[in-house]
Amino acid sequence: MNGLRAVGIIGTGKYVPEKILTNSDLEKIVDTNDEWIVSRTGIKERHIAAPEQATSDLAYEAAIKALESAGMTAEELDLIIVATVTPDTFFPSTACIIQEKLGAKRAAAFDLSAACSGFVYSLATATNFIKTGMYNNALIIGADCLSRITDYTDRNTCVLFGDGAGAVVIGEVPEGRGFLSFDLGAEGSGGPLLNLAGGGSRLPSSPQTIEDKKHFIYMNGREVFKFAVRVMGSATEAVLTKAGKTKEEIDLFVPHQANIRIIQSAMNRLDLPPEKCVINVDKYANTSAASIPLALVEAAEQNRMKEGDTVLMVGFGGGLTWGACVLVW
Ligand code: UT7
Repeated sequence: MNGLRAVGIIGTGKYVPEKILTNSDLEKIVDTNDEWIVSRTGIKERHIAAPEQATSDLAYEAAIKALESAGMTAEELDLIIVATVTPDTFFPSTACIIQEKLGAKRAAAFDLSAACSGFVYSLATATNFIKTGMYNNALIIGADCLSRITDYTDRNTCVLFGDGAGAVVIGEVPEGRGFLSFDLGAEGSGGPLLNLAGGGSRLPSSPQTIEDKKHFIYMNGREVFKFAVRVMGSATEAVLTKAGKTKEEIDLFVPHQANIRIIQSAMNRLDLPPEKCVINVDKYANTSAASIPLALVEAAEQNRMKEGDTVLMVGFGGGLTWGACVLVW
């Protein structure tokens, strides 16, 4: 991406709903226990949206903070992308709802669907709009309300997910900083391993789809786990090579927060000490598109990055998809 202007993060914000659902709360709903959930996933609790909150409400709160931290007004925004698999409605897009709520009158707006990889896919998309000069800035939000598509009678999935939103504003930054490389990919053959089958044009909503629980997340956990370990490694290596960096040069590793064991396998492969890895899966569980920005923004709030640090973000998810990027903070 040499020769074009440098693009990086100029503002950050996050939001999680107030209500906390702990492992012991889940013990009362399904046949599970804290010991199993913590040892198999690293999750202790997750935040759950209030009945009146939709994905755009979470996204809006994160967006306001990101704009504030960038020192920008909504009117200055050129582009809004919301990465989500739980949009408020099929259409209009959640990005259009945010555009109106913020009063970002000049901004183009669309949603991007790449499940848990959606935030990195969106960063790549918007970075290229800015690098080529079509736009000067963009608001990227990863937001999901997975609780709305979770079957709380299915112990295989209901312990894993939470709700939240993370947002960044990106724009031109001094040469030598910003995004150095992206590695995006998809393996559509694995689509059936992690999906929500009902309500689309293939299987429109009907009493039968409701009875068959086709409006909930279905996941083959073991197969997704194997995919995750494989692509976390390969995408990390690919994106480092593209950036001309070595694993020793990573100052902060920001992985998708799905399962502590997946994160640890990536850390082992990179020989990373714990202080170089952001882990908050214990507090928020898997929040899909919000997971990486929640981790990144929390790290920023805790001053874990200083100017010039090399940050590597990597995620995987439904599609199946993966996305990684290297950023000089
Ligand atoms: O963002 C991308 C989305 N997804 C992921 O990243 C998920 C990737 N997969 C995983 O994280 C793991 O595969 C899981 C956490 C979902 C499952 O862990 P696992 O070590 O692969 O467990 P398993 O599916 O092999 O199940 C082991 C046992 C089973 O019992 P049996 O058949 O051996 O008797 C399950 O029925 O654990 C049982 N089990 C539970 N027990 C207590 C499954 N869920 C639970 C539960 N509580 N909540």
